[in-house]
Order: sequence, then structure tokens, then C-alpha cells
Amino acid sequence: MNALKINTNRLLPFLNGFDNQQLAAEAEEARRKLIAGTGAGNDFLGWLDWPEKISHEIVEKITADVVRLTPKIKFFVVIGIGGSYLGARAVIEALQDSFALAGRGSCPVVIYAGHTLSEDYYADLMRLLDSTDYAVAVISKSGTTTEPAVAFRIIKAHMERKYGRKGAAERTIAITDAHRGALRQIALDEGYSMYEIPDDIGGRFSVLTPVGLLPIAMAGFDIEALLAGAREMREVCLNEADPQRNPALLYAMARQTALRKGYPVEMLVNFVPQLVYLAEWWKQLYGESEGKEHRGILPHSATFTTDLHSMGQYIQDGQRLMMETVLSVAKPKNSVAIPFDEKNLDGLNYLQGKTINEINHCAQEGTEMAHNTGGVPVLEIEVPEVSERTLGQLIYFFEFACGVSAYMNGVNPFNQPGVEAYKSNMFRLLGKPGV
Ligand code: PA5
Repeated sequence: MNALKINTNRLLPFLNGFDNQQLAAEAEEARRKLIAGTGAGNDFLGWLDWPEKISHEIVEKITADVVRLTPKIKFFVVIGIGGSYLGARAVIEALQDSFALAGRGSCPVVIYAGHTLSEDYYADLMRLLDSTDYAVAVISKSGTTTEPAVAFRIIKAHMERKYGRKGAAERTIAITDAHRGALRQIALDEGYSMYEIPDDIGGRFSVLTPVGLLPIAMAGFDIEALLAGAREMREVCLNEADPQRNPALLYAMARQTALRKGYPVEMLVNFVPQLVYLAEWWKQLYGESEGKEHRGILPHSATFTTDLHSMGQYIQDGQRLMMETVLSVAKPKNSVAIPFDEKNLDGLNYLQGKTINEINHCAQEGTEMAHNTGGVPVLEIEVPEVSERTLGQLIYFFEFACGVSAYMNGVNPFNQPGVEAYKSNMFRLLGKPGV
């Protein structure tokens, strides 16, 4: 059952006619291309059926690695960048305690490396790892990306000093290509626990493979429920041709119309900071998939009410170039009510007994109304709660809509030729042999 609801009431007045038949036909053609594998980049469509196809053996191996390592470690370092990092972080940060100083139950705290070249970051990380027990997952589809390779070289040397070569190998998991890459060779030589990233699934579409599932399970979350949510959304996306019943089609149509009507920026907004990394994952998914051939919507994000005190002015009153997509959560996991105060010096007794969520929802409604009046088309995507199941649904929904939207805009969603330019300059500056 799809638990996700899309509300277009605050969008329609701006995108007059966005649900017309011509647009619906374009979206349906894009959906068919994806499903039939007749569009550009069709050798990277493995993610479409993956939630159905993933084998029990993979889930069992992940569980076995979690059970084997958990009693030995306080921290689990996930090394990866882009699609080999953001999906896991998005799900873990959405589900974990906001102040995750300790892991969930007996699970380790997941921390990240390989997503930066900041020297101070690595100095701080080494200091932390000196005084604690840890294990790592090194994740790279190509097995040759510089940032995670640099991080892994440093951490591998640290682990071998601390635990010996055999002990370090027992604490290392490699997730990489089935056939190629330096990481695969290192993992085979050292005897690491290994997972393969399917050939036909690209980095930013790989969160439901071991790339995301292993770290998410290590953090103590239910990967079966995540996959079940994805399967539910897959049923809808693959079988519903009517945009009123297929939220991915409706979303793709809304954003493509917004682009054509002069709104080239989409700001994904949430009202709970737990979703900050979901927005980071979404930005990569849409930015790398659509931003090519001088086309595409610029994906941007904000967390409200925090950013209403920084970006709010621009959104309300700046250049009119933005569509706002509000990711709304109906129910929080907890309840915190405003207490009564006898003196009432802050004047807040009128809120006494209300939960923070009730206040947050009024802030959300007030913001959507204000931005709408200010000329911003607002689309609302509502989930009943943040859980493994709803995150699984959201991930598949955003991935499918991304494919449809990119095809509607005439680009191949599954390559990223533009990412190479900085790398070749960097390698030349570093004096890499053969460059
Ligand atoms: O979506 C993508 O393909 C990229 O963002 C990659 O995930 C990122 O560049 C990391 O690549 P790799 O997994 O090969 O190290």
C-alpha cells in the first residue's frame, strides 16, 4: 500500500494546465521507456526490479556481518562518496536518535569518511579511532575513486597498526564492482568480506543494494522493511499509468511543467532536521541525472523552520525562479508538549498543552501559504511518518520519478560525464602517472 500523498493545490494556480493530456502522454511515454528499457542509458536499469530480485543470501550475509562485528565495535566507519555514501547516510540520519552519541541498542555509531579531502577531518578521525574499537565498510563501485581510496589507505594503515593485518582484515568489508577495480583486488588479496554492486545499477540508484543496506543494518535498522516499502512503491510506479494514481508520474509532470513555465530551481524543503541528508541524497540523484547538455532543474534544499531565518527572505521576495517541494511528515515518533508557566513572562501560555509538532505544522501551513502568496508554486509530498517502510517508498518514488523526468527533458539520466572534468585537472596537478 502506497502511503505517500501528493497535494497539488498550491501548485496548480501557477502551472495552469500542468495536468493536461499532452503532458500526461509525455510522462507515460517516459514511464514506458523506463520499463521497456528502450531509453538512453538502458544498461543501468537494474534498480527498477532490484527490490524484488535481491536474494535472501545477500540479506543473510549482511545480517551475519552485523552479528559478527557488532559486539566488537563502538564505531562503524563508512568510506564512500556520492552514490556510494549519501543513500546510507540519508536513511540512517532519518531514523536514528537526533543526538546519536551512542548507537541504537548494542549497535555501533556509523560515521563517515571518503566523502571529503579535508586534512583536519582525517586528523580528527584518526584521533577518535585511536581510542575506540571500530570496523569499516569501504564502498566504491569503480573501486578507483580518489577520495574513498585516500581515506581507505589511511584507515587501513591505522587498523593494521591497531589490530594487526589479520585483525584489520576481519574488520573490513568491501562493497565494489563484481569484475574490476583496485578495491576488488585489495579485498581479494586481504580476504575481506565482500559484496558486489550489480553491473546495471549506478551509484546514485544503489541505496537499496548492499551499498546502503549494509551500513543501514549495521546502524540497527530494519532493511527488510525498507525493501518492502520500495516493493510497494514499485508496484504502483510500474503498473499505474494514471498520474492521479501514480505519484511518481504526477511529480515528474509537475517539475517538468515548472521548468517550462520559467521555474528552473526546485527547492526540496523539510520541517524536520532528520531529513537533511535525504535532501542531500535527492540533490545528487536529480542533479547528476538531469543536469546535462545545459538543461535540467537546479535541485536545492532547505530545512525549515531553521532556514526560514536565512533563506526565507529570498524565497518570499527574491527572484521568482523557484518551485518548492515540501516533504511533509504527518506524525513524529515522539510527543513533547509545551508546559504551563505561572509567570508567563514569555507569553507562551497560549500554547500550553500543544505539542511541538502541532506548532511545527502551523509553521508549515503558514509558510506554504506565505510562499504561495509571494509567487512560489508549492507541491506537498506527505508521508505518514518517518520509518524504514516510508523511506523505502520515498527512495523508489524519487528514483522512478527522476528517470521519467529526465526522459521528459530529453537527457540520459544514468550517466554523469560532467563529473570527470574536475578529476582530470586534479590528477594533472597532482602529477598522476599516465595523465
Ligand atoms: O552516482 C554516481 O555514479 C556517482 O555519484 C558515484 O556514486 C560516485 O562518484 C562514487 O563513485 P564510486 O562508487 O565508483 O567510488
